[in-house]
Amino acid sequence: MGTRLPTSPGPIGVFDSGYGGLTILHQMRRLLPQYDYLYLGDNARAPYGPRSFDVVYRFTREAVMQLFSMGCHLVILACNTASAKALRTLQQNDLPYIDSDRRVLGVIRPTAEAIPPLTASRHVGILATEGTIRSNSYELEIAHQAADIVVTGQACPLWAAIVEANEADSEGADYFVRQRIKELLGRDPDIDTLVLACTHYPLLLNTIKKHVPSDIRIVSQGEYVAESLAQYFQRHPDMEARITRGGSCRYLTTENPDRFTECARIFLREPIVAKNVTLG
Ligand code: DGL
Repeated sequence: MGTRLPTSPGPIGVFDSGYGGLTILHQMRRLLPQYDYLYLGDNARAPYGPRSFDVVYRFTREAVMQLFSMGCHLVILACNTASAKALRTLQQNDLPYIDSDRRVLGVIRPTAEAIPPLTASRHVGILATEGTIRSNSYELEIAHQAADIVVTGQACPLWAAIVEANEADSEGADYFVRQRIKELLGRDPDIDTLVLACTHYPLLLNTIKKHVPSDIRIVSQGEYVAESLAQYFQRHPDMEARITRGGSCRYLTTENPDRFTECARIFLREPIVAKNVTLG
């Protein structure tokens, strides 16, 4: 640390291990198109799901520092695994050192806050990476909102890797998605609400829908996170004043920028150009 950070207003930083955060970015730009955004995907080191607490924390801190050094005052961890494993330490231990006026926000709390009114059976399933499931973050956050809700978590190893490999519509994806959903609904047949608690999973939505009974609601996080950000700006006009307005979005990846450009174009259905960045 100890580096001098730019003080003039800057874009909203959005970070994910790879492509998944684009699903959050998309909804934020729909609801809040007036702001500038800077997206960073650590594709070279994705997936984060199987990685240890320490490694996810270290990688996430490097990414946040990169976004701060490029002018962001606010960074959204558009990654459940990073939110589960790194957010609290960053907020409590690092930010007071780095710059107590900068902020890092995650995606788990805004999602948990949205759940209680959605479930009639009060049985909710969480589909997420091993790291997020092991952290019990969703159980804790949902219990905080409504103690009567039964939460069953299902780790879905490989799903994020399938998305990173651009294989979301393949037969392999179909097999692994079917297996995990069968396992989860076998463990709790009363689930009426299924949360896609990994930002990569909306990119598997077509495959997921094939294996989930139609009376079960599938919840993606993007809209809730975007709504929560809009409310955050209402409560914190001082931070809102430090975000530049222009509706632009720049993209950074730690992997091959041509590949990111190509994949992101498919996911976002709009032309983009990514640049390479090295973290650490
Ligand atoms: N997209 C991330 C999440 O929401 C992480 C996926 C991964 O890298 O394993 O958890």
